[in-house]
Amino acid sequence: MPNKKKVVLAYSGGLDTSVAIPWLGERGYDVIAAAVDVGQQGDLEGAVERAMTLGAADSMLIDARTEFVDGFLMPALKMNALYQGRYPLVSALSRPLISKVLIDIAKETGATAVAHGCTGKGNDQVRFEVALSALAPDIEVLAPVRDWGMSREQTISYAEERGLPISSTKSSPYSIDENVWGRSIECGVLEDPWAAPPADIYEVTSGDAQGPGEMTVGFESGIPVSIDGESVTPLNAIEAAGKIAGSYGFGRVDMVEDRLVGIKTREIYEAPAALSLISAHRDLEGLTLERSVAREKRHLELKWAEVVYEGLWFSPLRAALDAFAESTQVPVSGEVRLSFTSGGCTPSGRRSEKSLYDHGLATYDDDDVFDHADAAGFVRLWGLSTRNWSKVNGPGD
Ligand code: ARG
Repeated sequence: MPNKKKVVLAYSGGLDTSVAIPWLGERGYDVIAAAVDVGQQGDLEGAVERAMTLGAADSMLIDARTEFVDGFLMPALKMNALYQGRYPLVSALSRPLISKVLIDIAKETGATAVAHGCTGKGNDQVRFEVALSALAPDIEVLAPVRDWGMSREQTISYAEERGLPISSTKSSPYSIDENVWGRSIECGVLEDPWAAPPADIYEVTSGDAQGPGEMTVGFESGIPVSIDGESVTPLNAIEAAGKIAGSYGFGRVDMVEDRLVGIKTREIYEAPAALSLISAHRDLEGLTLERSVAREKRHLELKWAEVVYEGLWFSPLRAALDAFAESTQVPVSGEVRLSFTSGGCTPSGRRSEKSLYDHGLATYDDDDVFDHADAAGFVRLWGLSTRNWSKVNGPGD
């Protein structure tokens, strides 16, 4: 008998990817269930064991946290990346990494196909499939959840009919995706954009800590290297910032977002690590970046976020934008103090050896070194073109 075809499945332990195991099995595949640890909570080891009872030929847990942080989250932080100015790309950043891991496993195991558990309505199918096809153009990509067309209830019945051990995944009415950068929460009552989010959807922004509070983040060339004076790896910085900022209830986003496929969707995020670190990093850039570089960077940051949101991680544009970002980050070293109130976070101090802030120029005190005589001529020239226009046409409305 010829060997069965092997497929590597991006397995989360949730309802859909659990059901995908027997579903693919029934279609003649040997399923290798790969759970990728990107810092999500929950019992991944248990999920990996459960995959075997669901009928996987093999199952594995891959700790990809360091690669995720170094290769994906640090570039996002250097770009202060916020899609539509608000969403720190929590889920969008993990998809290209998971794709990479799937392809590596496929190569090692001789699998000819990979599978993801995304639906046909979201961004994640695009991110996976564009990434997978860039990394391994010849691999077969299967999207069982998109193909089977079952509602959530039907998926549950499918599992029940076969006696699959998925009961622990049934209770949540929400679709949740999480990693060290934050959590994305969709579905259930949240589909009404007017409905206030129930308090129990939040897990990492408890707001238990009595504010006001503070956190000082140290950066070296755009990378966080210390929290409150303690040296940390970037992964530890993210974990610590998430805990501290989250304890003050900071990091929640409730927004209506534009998906790539044209649908508007109501999304809840809690991303205390991402949002506090971006706030600190952006503030330090205010102190250390030359004005025109900083201005240009703000535009390119939005572009970077769109490129990544829209699934084009492995594109030359993202690589080119990263090269720009990298070259700007050399002087972004120093410290920023963030002050927290309940649910709020504001930079309240910054310092750097590469500071471009010149007290002698900025001060209104006696030690002022600014040459005021320069200003009068400068202002006359600055306004020359507008003045000229006004003489002929009157002032612009
Ligand atoms: N809307 C977000 C994005 O496109 C989050 C998607 C998260 N997926 C989920 N299963 N909740 O990146």
